[in-house]
Amino acid sequence: MTSDRHVNAARSKVFGEVAELYDSARPGYSDAMVTEVLAYTVLGDRAAVEVGAGTGKATVPFAALGIPLVCVEPDARMAEVLRRNTASYPNVRVEVGDFEQWRPGGRHYGLLFAASSWNFLDRDRRWDLVHAALAPGGAMALIRNPHGIHDGGLRVELAAIGDRHGITGSPHRFLACDLSGDKPGNWDQAWPDTECRRDGRFTDLRSVRFRQNLRYDTDRYLGYLASLSAYRILPDDHRDQALAEAGRLLDAHGGGIDVLQVTDVFLARAR
Ligand SMILES: C[S@@+](CC[C@H](N)C(=O)[O-])C[C@H]1O[C@@H](n2cnc3c(N)ncnc32)[C@H](O)[C@@H]1O
Repeated sequence: MTSDRHVNAARSKVFGEVAELYDSARPGYSDAMVTEVLAYTVLGDRAAVEVGAGTGKATVPFAALGIPLVCVEPDARMAEVLRRNTASYPNVRVEVGDFEQWRPGGRHYGLLFAASSWNFLDRDRRWDLVHAALAPGGAMALIRNPHGIHDGGLRVELAAIGDRHGITGSPHRFLACDLSGDKPGNWDQAWPDTECRRDGRFTDLRSVRFRQNLRYDTDRYLGYLASLSAYRILPDDHRDQALAEAGRLLDAHGGGIDVLQVTDVFLARAR
């Protein structure tokens, strides 16, 4: 395992320690994204499977449309919040475990989606696992939601705080204008398009972008930062300091931050 993979493995396990904070501070996904994914999908009488469902940020809008859904989530604390958030949807079943260990048990799905979780899966096995879970013609949707900051000066200062505290993969890399174009995944060197083409078992590859402007007040933004793996893996005192500095900065900038929230979706269909 490369050290890059060690870091990724460590990052994949940090969310449960702040499951409630994650649920309250993270933004949700737009209904337009869900509509697009379902328009692409031919579900028939098959169910959908969600990988790394977390507390259900992407689950709920699919569940609310009555889509039969199996959610795979390894962290029992995230899964507990997920169960609570989907308690009114009998069409949702939660299965606790890593996707790599999960067995579809002879089931083949019409849709597999992963929101902000694809990057945590085993890179050597994830395409095989997705292919094995999908029925022929089944759709996969990989969803990511980075944001860009409107105020260039504020972005620079937030990034400098991150640099001082050794934060890698900072959410302060982008200006809103970096994400305003029509090239989904342009911010991500690991956007799945290239790997998927190379894999060769998928067809009809598509990338789609959705945008919304969001304002976070200081407390909500600090909660959002504290829920990110980039901040969670820091020693507690570094994280506390980085958050305190970011808080003072946002307070000095009117008590919040305006961001362009982007949702980029990669779609492909199993041959
Ligand atoms: C950033 S969170 C995203 C949660 C949710 N999908 C969302 O969009 O808010 C990443 C999630 O992936 C889960 N995860 C990490 N490693 C995983 C694995 N090997 N298999 C399935 N899920 C995994 C984590 O437990 C966490 O809930």
